[in-house]
Amino acid sequence: MTRFETIVSLRPYLATLRPEKTIGFVPTMGALHEGHIKLIETARQENDIVISSIFVNPVQFNNPDDLARYPRTLEEDSQQLEAAGCDLVFAPSVAEMYSEPPAIRLNFGGLETVLEGAFRPGHFNGVGIVVSKLFNIVQPTRAYFGQKDLQQVAVIRRLIRDLNFPVELIRCPTVREADGLAMSSRNRNLTSTEREQAPTLFKALTLAHDLLMEGQGTVQAKVAVTSLFAANPHFRLEYVEVVNADTLQQASEVLAPGQTAICLAAHLGNVRLIDNLVF
Ligand code: PAJ
Repeated sequence: MTRFETIVSLRPYLATLRPEKTIGFVPTMGALHEGHIKLIETARQENDIVISSIFVNPVQFNNPDDLARYPRTLEEDSQQLEAAGCDLVFAPSVAEMYSEPPAIRLNFGGLETVLEGAFRPGHFNGVGIVVSKLFNIVQPTRAYFGQKDLQQVAVIRRLIRDLNFPVELIRCPTVREADGLAMSSRNRNLTSTEREQAPTLFKALTLAHDLLMEGQGTVQAKVAVTSLFAANPHFRLEYVEVVNADTLQQASEVLAPGQTAICLAAHLGNVRLIDNLVF
């Protein structure tokens, strides 16, 4: 696997591959786990060349502590990528990606005023800017994103449509631990007690799903989830919503198969966790 750290070295290399080779792209912020690796493996099956990026994007962090605490494990990450069959990794410095702070602002309208967007102002502006830059640098055939970050998928879908990026977006299922906890780079910041509690998020999603499938309303499902977290002093529930999986607008009832999403975010100690179920 070849590692590139500069745009000026990566671009001409990729240009020699196009258009004969299809390029599958997996953007990441590193601290890789099986969720990321599954994206690489999927890209490996569907493309001639697989490239991943590792870049902790300061522009998408609205909390400086979160940015400072974000794990940076480039050497281990590179080994994992290589073992998963990744051909190239792009790991630029902050100065390489942002010679100065970006002047543009991206606003995704109703897609970013809900769920994560409501609690992380400016987050999707930062995601949109860095993904646009990476798409322009890599010019992939296909780009792979995890359902774990469902709102991010919706935002990138809109970005591709609005700016006519010639990229096919592939949403990949959430990879979970055996006890249901969605894999996340932030899980490594949990204490052992918190780690034991962490599957509560998946339990809450499953409970809401089961209630909705029994014919209960979305309000009852949300009340049940809220009560579950209220009874557990380890957690502070930030939101739980039943939404349309593509538009992220509130759903008042179960929609067509694959269209309903239950999304939640909760603080467990100092760690903020998100998860969702789409059905
Ligand atoms: P990061 O959090 O590193 O995630 C990289 C990709 O891995 C995202 O598409 C995310 O949804 C996916 N992913 C994370 N956990 C997953 C899991 N348990 N199962 C399946 N996929 C999972 O998301 C970002 O980085 C950044 O916002 C980025 C898109 C790289 C822009 O900076």
